[in-house]
Amino acid sequence: MRPTRRSALASLLAIAPAALLRHGVSVAAEPRALAPTPACGEDPGATPAQTAGPYYRPSAPARRDLRGDRPAGAPFTVAGYVVDARCRGIAGALVEIWHADEAGRYDNEGFLLRATQRTDAAGRWGFDTILTRHYAGRTAHYHFRVSRPQGRALVTQLYFPDEPRNAADPIFDARLLMRLDAARRLGRFDFVVA
Ligand SMILES: [Fe+2]
Repeated sequence: MRPTRRSALASLLAIAPAALLRHGVSVAAEPRALAPTPACGEDPGATPAQTAGPYYRPSAPARRDLRGDRPAGAPFTVAGYVVDARCRGIAGALVEIWHADEAGRYDNEGFLLRATQRTDAAGRWGFDTILTRHYAGRTAHYHFRVSRPQGRALVTQLYFPDEPRNAADPIFDARLLMRLDAARRLGRFDFVVA
């Protein structure tokens, strides 16, 4: 199914899940609570790749809930699907996340705010984590590495649509904006991999 702009908007307006209004949205809210990001359905192109930057560390633990890594951070769930160019979900894709904490700092010694996860049978993934923060020279962003089984890895970053520092960040790409819920607790993005 390739939703049109109108149907995506209609489904977004139709949704008012109580889960999104609670403090600390969980992955259980699932990405269908928000309309697909424009990359899926309106633009058949693959998700743009971006630099991994200097802070990627391989072998992060497999887990969904990172909130305990930085309890002072504001809870934020980032979730979506991994799909192919025809918007079909890809099961078993490896999704890795790493990001700065609420003060703009990376953990480069251990694996705080770093995790991996396999997509489910429908191609869904999701991490319960915290709101990241900008740091010197960069607007706020989450780093991702997405590998379909036996496929090449897509390395990219996701951004917030309401972040004023986006305009000053030379790496920022508007094609990589998450779709946020009104409470700014849930961000959705669908990775389109070749
Ligand atoms: Fe970064």
